[in-house]
Amino acid sequence: MKIIELDEIDSTNEYAKRAAAGEDLIVTARRQTAGRGTKGRSFVSGDGGLYLSVLRYYDNFPAALAFGIMVNNCVAVCRTLEHFGLRPQIRWANDVLVNNKKISGTLIENVFGGGKVVRSVVGIGVNVNNRLPDDLKNIAVTMREACNKNTEVDDVKHILIENLQKEYTVGEYKSYIGYFGREVTIITDGGARKAVALDVSDDGRLKIREDGGEEKFISSAEVGLRL
Ligand code: BTN
Repeated sequence: MKIIELDEIDSTNEYAKRAAAGEDLIVTARRQTAGRGTKGRSFVSGDGGLYLSVLRYYDNFPAALAFGIMVNNCVAVCRTLEHFGLRPQIRWANDVLVNNKKISGTLIENVFGGGKVVRSVVGIGVNVNNRLPDDLKNIAVTMREACNKNTEVDDVKHILIENLQKEYTVGEYKSYIGYFGREVTIITDGGARKAVALDVSDDGRLKIREDGGEEKFISSAEVGLRL
């Protein structure tokens, strides 16, 4: 796959979308000036982190299977962190944690047409040696902190790109979730509530049981999760 390596860019996802011309592409940057997170948030993207987007085109990829893109990406990130001796956990749907703090996040931007995924841009940020702002120190962690030493960003990049070429299953994704059967906090625009996390469905919804014993499936577009 064609790889474009940049020093600085507004956002590798935006670059990939601007460059989109029918060919698969990986874009990486050493820093982003306008890094984007999920739900319209910004993503702090200073020097020392890894910022990478994969642009992919599909011929015949049913929209109903789109969660597979998230699965592939999250498992590839987890495998990469394991390569460097860490024990990652997935916080459904798209965060990867180490020591219960976020080490990597993913922003997926799909284009759909005729019930199929036509194209996806998967943007991955990994905290490697970057400095975290004070307000993130309690909830985020870098590989440097978790490994107690610097890791070359390029080494992480190469292993991640290698792992991103492989295919993974929902079962492998679920194997990185350690909180099934445990109480978690579901966060919506309307506030936070407790529920027991039970499973993740093949289409990517979280199965939960609420207080009254009622089981239901929730979609990550609506809610966030606190472990
Ligand atoms: C999140 O945790 O909210 C998602 C963060 C996604 C960040 C990555 S960094 C590379 C790519 N470019 C962006 O602007 N965002 C994604």
